[in-house]
Amino acid sequence: MYFIGIDSSTTATKALLMDSAGQVLAVAATEYPFETPRPLWSEQHPDLWWDGAQKSIRAVLEQAGIDPAQVGGVGLTGQMHGLVLLDEAGEVLRPAILWNDQRTQAQCDEIHQVIGKELFIQITGNMALTGFTAPKILWVKQNEPQVYARVRHILLPKDYVRYKLTDAYAMDKADGAGTVLFDIKSRTWSPDVLRALGIDPAWMPALYEGPQITGFLSAEAAKATGLKAGTPVMAGGGDQAAQAVGVGAVSEGIVALTLGTSGVVFATTDGPFIEPQGRLHAFCHSVPGKWHLMGVMLSAAGSLRWYRDTFAPGMSYDDLLAPAAQVPAGSDGLLFLPYLTGERTPHPDPLARGAFVGLTVRHTMAHMTRAVLEGVAFGLRDGFELMKSAGLGKITQVRVSGGGAKSALWRQILADVFGCELVTVNTTEGAAYGAALLAAVGAGKFRSVEAACEAAIQVTGSTLPVQAQVKAYEQVYAIYRDLYPALTSSFKRIHELR
Ligand code: XUL
Repeated sequence: MYFIGIDSSTTATKALLMDSAGQVLAVAATEYPFETPRPLWSEQHPDLWWDGAQKSIRAVLEQAGIDPAQVGGVGLTGQMHGLVLLDEAGEVLRPAILWNDQRTQAQCDEIHQVIGKELFIQITGNMALTGFTAPKILWVKQNEPQVYARVRHILLPKDYVRYKLTDAYAMDKADGAGTVLFDIKSRTWSPDVLRALGIDPAWMPALYEGPQITGFLSAEAAKATGLKAGTPVMAGGGDQAAQAVGVGAVSEGIVALTLGTSGVVFATTDGPFIEPQGRLHAFCHSVPGKWHLMGVMLSAAGSLRWYRDTFAPGMSYDDLLAPAAQVPAGSDGLLFLPYLTGERTPHPDPLARGAFVGLTVRHTMAHMTRAVLEGVAFGLRDGFELMKSAGLGKITQVRVSGGGAKSALWRQILADVFGCELVTVNTTEGAAYGAALLAAVGAGKFRSVEAACEAAIQVTGSTLPVQAQVKAYEQVYAIYRDLYPALTSSFKRIHELR
């Protein structure tokens, strides 16, 4: 029997096909752009995800050359928090407003005012942030009343793909919690938050734990994808929870560090652990009965991509990074702030901006490259520090993954900045792999998500911190921490120049 994981990310919809032992047999991705029609806005049409899912599923079936009747389940994952609005007939009402859209600060403030910030954090585990779904709903209500009047269903990106596959309006609890319309403790929609924000509970989809079956492939979807009608579609999880499953970060003490476009520090908790000021995200895990804490930096590998595309377009990352390995830790006093698309953790500020600080005529491009890698590591350490100060139990292992983790130099910088060992694992397909594992658990191939991870995922490499560099970075990190507070008002004034 085989299982498919589908990941509808911001840049592509990927399909992954694995066998029931967790061996990956085929992977295919269909890429697409996203739109920024105005400053701070970020949108994408849901058709792109469905079109991408059809093409990528067909491609993996063809590559693996298997009988579609042998596919025992499909698990879904994708970018979190994106607002998908459908009318009575299930038609898309407007382009989805994505996780990295920053237009809703006024609506976040309003939510805190209407419900009370403390109570809101108590219920949902989070403060309202521009990236999350709830303020986006209020924005549409206030700015596009003609659209809002026709809303009958609210979904997240991957759940639109689910709807096209099965006709079911359904969602997993990990992604559900990321709407912040959720009661984090009882793992379901919060009637209080929905009522306070005037959102009709009938618009919210049915909720499921990650491995549960949410529906079966319709005849129409079977024709569109090449899969067999009746194939079960499991809940899966938001991309961060599924990524954590994909690297085996499913028990307390194991932290997943992901260097994708965004950068994430993710820790599993056995209970709904909330950072009292809501500075870390507290969501449900896609492991049934578990939760997680998470710090999200908006531009991690995204900072390096911007830097490469701007200053060395076309250069390979290997060629770009090699000279930076010769620069000493701390880049001879050059620091980089990675807030290129605003920031979330630990500074929830859509107006935060990137910066190089400390430039002198002695600095070279290699220094600037290294400063970018270090700045991202410092920003991720901010999330790590918040977890420690929130009282999270002992961190026993940090599992690093994502495109950025391919660089040995970046892994060493992270180990030195965090002052702890980082390990890599044998699975490199991240969230799509996690979604496929969740489907296999749902089909009964493994006893639990933890058992599936244990069977399929092994540690393959380790990066140890070098003590002299750990020391050097302590000093530089202290300077880094002072820069955002020093520049906050300048960032605001720069924004007002518009
Ligand atoms: C998580 C988040 C991002 C997106 C990226 O809270 O917003 O990681 O899920 O796809």
